[in-house]
Amino acid sequence: MNVYSPVNQLLRNRLRVLNHLPLIREKLKRGQRWGLVFSPTEGQGPHEEVQGWLRELQTNRVSSTRVSQEIARLFKSSPGEVNQDLDYCYQTGLLEFHPTDQCDLECRDCHYRTKGDETIPFEAINSLMTALRPVAITITGGGEPTIYHSQGKKFSDLVERITHSTGSVPLGLINNNTFFPRGEWHTHFLWQRSSMDSGTPATYKKLKNRDLYFRVRENIRTYCQTTRIPHVGVGFLVQEGNMDEIETFILDWWQWVQSEKNLDPQRINLQFRTLAPPIHEVQSIRESQDAKWLGAGLRDTFLKEVNNIQQRRQKDTSFDSFVSVYSNFDGLTRAALSGNGPFMHRDTSFDSCYNALIHRVFRATGEEYPDFLLCDMPQYCMGNSLKGDPVEQRRRVTLMQFFYFNKMSPHCHGSSCRQSWVNRTVSEGIAGNIPHGEEIPDMAFF
Ligand SMILES: C[S@@+](CC[C@H](N)C(=O)[O-])C[C@H]1O[C@@H](n2cnc3c(N)ncnc32)[C@H](O)[C@@H]1O
Repeated sequence: MNVYSPVNQLLRNRLRVLNHLPLIREKLKRGQRWGLVFSPTEGQGPHEEVQGWLRELQTNRVSSTRVSQEIARLFKSSPGEVNQDLDYCYQTGLLEFHPTDQCDLECRDCHYRTKGDETIPFEAINSLMTALRPVAITITGGGEPTIYHSQGKKFSDLVERITHSTGSVPLGLINNNTFFPRGEWHTHFLWQRSSMDSGTPATYKKLKNRDLYFRVRENIRTYCQTTRIPHVGVGFLVQEGNMDEIETFILDWWQWVQSEKNLDPQRINLQFRTLAPPIHEVQSIRESQDAKWLGAGLRDTFLKEVNNIQQRRQKDTSFDSFVSVYSNFDGLTRAALSGNGPFMHRDTSFDSCYNALIHRVFRATGEEYPDFLLCDMPQYCMGNSLKGDPVEQRRRVTLMQFFYFNKMSPHCHGSSCRQSWVNRTVSEGIAGNIPHGEEIPDMAFF
């Protein structure tokens, strides 16, 4: 597989996290200054006490103001100096931004269906973006971002405000695409992906509880014909209800690409991911003899689909090049079959969580998490600058980043966390040790 095809290079190349190395280095330098970066080889010292304060902070027994005072005391400095570094380290690399929890679909297994319908007030956007200073943003949900409305403002206003307050950082959009918002918002996007997740209208309706398959297809055409977004993606989250439609899905879009007049096929890409178990269930699934994730029988269904697609590729070189260049199908098969058990990610050990230093989820509720994998667990929320004092809460978020960096939650190990590949890649990058031509090891979304 040509993983360095234009599409995969941008959207699925594991090395893309190395864009954040300068930010990581700066945060490490400032964190080390205050004992926030623990090393397994370190002997006794103030970092042990700092570790204790981070635990107190996570369980809400102390405030971030108290923790920065204690750190200043330990290092014989002033809270002002500590806070200066904490405020710098609040910045994130990639921001996964959920402007609203409202949605027009009811997707089976959606993480956020029970999370209410909050929306970030429009008046808060400028200050939160100015504080987060993201390097890139993926706008998604939560709910459906394109139906955002607050204080008389809609999606187009939201995008203009984000662009203005961040200085036009690159934007990506993951949406259900049942609705194409008005305005020129699309001129700011580098990529977009529609969550199609099915090969037929019947399956779409079954998985999302609305009969909108053809509308989404039509809106994908609108993206291709009326916008200049360079990468228009069609997403397929592989799960029990659509496992037998992978071949249908690929064939359908291949034929669509061929039949569309004036379409530059380079703009279309198909992106597969597999439905993964919640982070807190991974360990028990791995340890249980009979509880195979997604059911043992599904592996056979999957293999049949893979087999059919491979046979067709061998017979038809233009189909083969469509699959290898414009989809991540080869990455899907590798990730689904080479992990520890079918559709389970490979256990990748790591020393420190760099992901927590460069990735942030900002929820419609105002809660911040280091990754969407933890969004189901409020006890792991890093802070909420929309609900509490913003300065105090942002310092809490920064301190909690180091809590995760030091792997202090019970889920922070390679067996449970499927983002551990990020940490491996960053460690190799820091060591200046990235082999050329290496393949993407996992399907993790970043
Ligand atoms: C939660 S949706 C929110 C954005 C938008 N409403 C949409 O449908 O794309 C974001 C992505 O999460 C995926 N998704 C839904 N439930 C999921 C789950 N349990 N595990 C992993 N991804 C999931 C969807 O396929 C979609 O691509």
